[in-house]
Amino acid sequence: MGLFDKFQGLSAARRELGTLGIDPFAVEIEKILSPTEGIIHGRRTILAGTNNYLGLTFDPDCVKAAQTALAAEGTGTTGSRMANGSYANHRKLEAELAAFYGMRDAIVFSTGYQANLGMLSALAGAGDVVLLDADCHASIYDGCRLSGAEVIRFRHNNPEDLAKRMRRLGARAADTLIVVEGIYSMLGDRAPLKEIVAVKREHGGYLLVDEAHSLGVLGERGRGLVEEQEVLADADFIVGTFSKSLGGAGGFCVSDLPVLDLVRYSSRPYIFTASPSPATIASTRQALTKLAAARDLRARLRANYERLHAGLAGMGYTLGASPSPVIAVVLGDRLEALRFWNRLLQHGVYVNLMLPPATPNGVSLIRCSVSAAHTSEQIDAVCAAFADLRADAGIVAAELGTGT
Ligand SMILES: Cc1ncc(COP(=O)(O)O)c(C=O)c1O
Repeated sequence: MGLFDKFQGLSAARRELGTLGIDPFAVEIEKILSPTEGIIHGRRTILAGTNNYLGLTFDPDCVKAAQTALAAEGTGTTGSRMANGSYANHRKLEAELAAFYGMRDAIVFSTGYQANLGMLSALAGAGDVVLLDADCHASIYDGCRLSGAEVIRFRHNNPEDLAKRMRRLGARAADTLIVVEGIYSMLGDRAPLKEIVAVKREHGGYLLVDEAHSLGVLGERGRGLVEEQEVLADADFIVGTFSKSLGGAGGFCVSDLPVLDLVRYSSRPYIFTASPSPATIASTRQALTKLAAARDLRARLRANYERLHAGLAGMGYTLGASPSPVIAVVLGDRLEALRFWNRLLQHGVYVNLMLPPATPNGVSLIRCSVSAAHTSEQIDAVCAAFADLRADAGIVAAELGTGT
């Protein structure tokens, strides 16, 4: 077995895409026009797969803040948070994040991926147990791997299964880390946080909630599912990203527990990488202020995702979950999803193609993500494209399983 033999499967899959003339993984946005429009293959296209939930990427105040920081502090920090890469504004953003959640402390990481990697690998180690919802994001799984802890998966969104597995652990359950997401990234469904918190209260353990897709989206002040379900005080660690509703790049964790500060000294994904650039931090600070006050944007976002969800459901599509900004359309198989994705692009609509093994239960998905910046005409245009394809796509309604 040669070093590169492991790429043979991938290489064959790439050749297959070549013969179909479709390569969704090589799409280039030749020109970005706004949070919801770009030029792809020379044509004006509606972007309906961006995670740009509040549409803040072109917000004039955020752009201005980034430009000012760029001129004042330079293009990059050229160092790790532990060395020369912690500027006053990194610390200010941490203080603002902590205040936003009403928690004691926050840590800023260079990406959301690294926030999960950094938190899980620092909090858990060999001999510890992490209880993971089966549908958790790859960054959470990778963080567990880096930690060396024992990983126990429980059925997706199934608090009874979590309770069963905690009972089996006996006294060890009190020292476990339970990890769930707010809105799940693939199907757009919400975690039953109240019930999960009830299990934690009964058996002990610490709860980490990744709000990557719910920050800015749910809750009166945009603090995510923990706020919407009124369990903020029960979440020991909340992880989030700057790369979705905040329109930048970076990640964070907030907590009331004093141990968070010690994570800085033990988390390799925090220590051994450069910190976010001054422009990124400045636009994120501005975006966070906007996000907290953005009830109007949240209302518009909700109206948009309810409109798209109702439109697609009315056409008979199998959808992943009840309405949320992530709307997953379940297709029969990989090839059908590929062709469907391509035809949507030909209709001027860009969405995400999600295929196994990245998807839960091996389903093939067209994943739309809705923005507050979409106009109702754009939402209707997306619906119209789906309606055109509905007529002749021969869609096989797929069953959604329940995880393992
Ligand atoms: C649930 C979840 N956590 C973390 C991340 C990683 O975020 P980032 O893009 O900031 O690395 C993502 C990104 O898609 C995500 O969906």
